[in-house]
Amino acid sequence: MLWFLVPFELFSNNQLPPSAKPSTPRVYVTRQVHFNAAHRLHNAAFDDAWNQKTYGHCNHPNWHGHNYVLEVTLAGPPDPNTGYLMDLGELNRMLQEQIVAKCDHRNLNMDVDFLQGIIPSSENLVIAFWNELARVLPPHLLHRVRLWETPRNMAEYLGETA
Ligand code: NI
Repeated sequence: MLWFLVPFELFSNNQLPPSAKPSTPRVYVTRQVHFNAAHRLHNAAFDDAWNQKTYGHCNHPNWHGHNYVLEVTLAGPPDPNTGYLMDLGELNRMLQEQIVAKCDHRNLNMDVDFLQGIIPSSENLVIAFWNELARVLPPHLLHRVRLWETPRNMAEYLGETA
């Protein structure tokens, strides 16, 4: 049968297998937290000239600080009993415990156990934060981690690989 002679009814909604029919709605919820921290961007594998050229002000040897804004988004179907994807108060407690308590008013190069050996760029921080949160959140809920280093600079991670 030529493709243009296939009866239209074959494509009507009633013909779709169950797996192709609309399923449970997926919603996204976000919690925002803040922390203030110092850091320095410096790669010890390269000389000072390379670091100064690469990082500019962010390579200043005596550190500098940012007012970080962290946004964590969960995704999935609402629980039919609660109407929640997850209690955002509980998510907030996890963010405070796993991230804020360890990073706020700290030096990200020196003081944070899970950042040891990492150049604390926003890109590397969102990956590290994702990994910390994925350990404690229910499986498959974590959708996106966003970190605002300034009101104009933001990095985000969705758990994808390049
Ligand atoms: Ni900086």
